[in-house]
Amino acid sequence: MSPALSDSPQLIDRFGRKITYVRFSVTDRCDLRCVYCMAEDMTFVPREQLLTLEELARLGQAFVALGVHKIRITGGEPLVRRNVVWLFEQLGQLPGLRDLTLTTNGTQLARHARALKAAGVTRINISLDTLDPERFRRLTRLGDIRKVLAGIEAALEAGFERIKLNAVILRNRNHDEVLALTHFAHERGMDISFIEEMPLGVIGDHDRAEAYYSSDQILADLQQALKLVPVADNTGGPSRYYRRTDGTGRVGFISPHSHNFCDTCNRVRVTAEGRLLLCLGQEHSMDLRRILRGYPTEPARLREALLQSMDLKPQGHEFQLAAQPVIFRHMSVTGG
Ligand code: 5AD
Ligand code: SF4
Repeated sequence: MSPALSDSPQLIDRFGRKITYVRFSVTDRCDLRCVYCMAEDMTFVPREQLLTLEELARLGQAFVALGVHKIRITGGEPLVRRNVVWLFEQLGQLPGLRDLTLTTNGTQLARHARALKAAGVTRINISLDTLDPERFRRLTRLGDIRKVLAGIEAALEAGFERIKLNAVILRNRNHDEVLALTHFAHERGMDISFIEEMPLGVIGDHDRAEAYYSSDQILADLQQALKLVPVADNTGGPSRYYRRTDGTGRVGFISPHSHNFCDTCNRVRVTAEGRLLLCLGQEHSMDLRRILRGYPTEPARLREALLQSMDLKPQGHEFQLAAQPVIFRHMSVTGG
């Protein structure tokens, strides 16, 4: 590494955690209404309050200059944002960025998969909670599973480094499908992660404590049929991975309730409105839109603000199932 690079300032918080991973939510809108994510009737952010794609590109550049090497684009549903492929193209060209990834519900992927691959997207996470069309409709309130399945096929054909399915598991809604979903993923060379529902926002659908189905329970269910062993190197993130001893694939667990992952947190998030969130489970934040709009030609201001934000990063989250939600943001605002 050149001296200039190794001397350049990095994003390190008060607890010594180095931030190398940023997630950008590019819209809070979505073409689905998953019952754990949104209320049926949502009010979305007025368009002029969203960061523009150009502002997002500048922000990406600033983060990468400070040592961030992975950017994930999320939503809402990122692919409903007009011209979003342009943003991927800009970010894909940043020297120093190793991983450019996307989290999507898959409904528009058939249309965009090739362009995303060409823009430099390395990995894609696709949400799929059930294989049953009727259940899919109920869980998403209006979705057509055929679009998602076509999106998955298109992504596989486009040849991304890795594709992962994400499934949020709710008791009595889809907990009986964990094995079928695992087979579906592994037969196609994909990994799969199971996610415990997080209490983000008021959703008006179900009681979250009743719907809770723990990662440990899912693992036990899978172990009835599959031989799974923990993967030793768990690279920082909240997922804990297991691999099948026959080598056919991995299963991850994201368990905000049963396994706290804050100690190794290496990430921050930016909401669609440009609010920098230092923790998914806390409200500590900084308004980056003000800086991006106020000083469009002074990148040093932005860099300074990002460095200062490190003092705001809290030690950990405080999710509680029973209490009223403390966090009123929906996942669609934050980016999953
Ligand atoms: N808890 C857990 N996961 C959620 N997602 C959306 N809302 C929630 C929630 N309240 C998931 C989506 C998707 C990812 C982006 O986040 O299903 O897989
Ligand atoms: Fe849309 Fe994803 Fe939320 Fe479902 S979970 S409503 S697909 S943003």
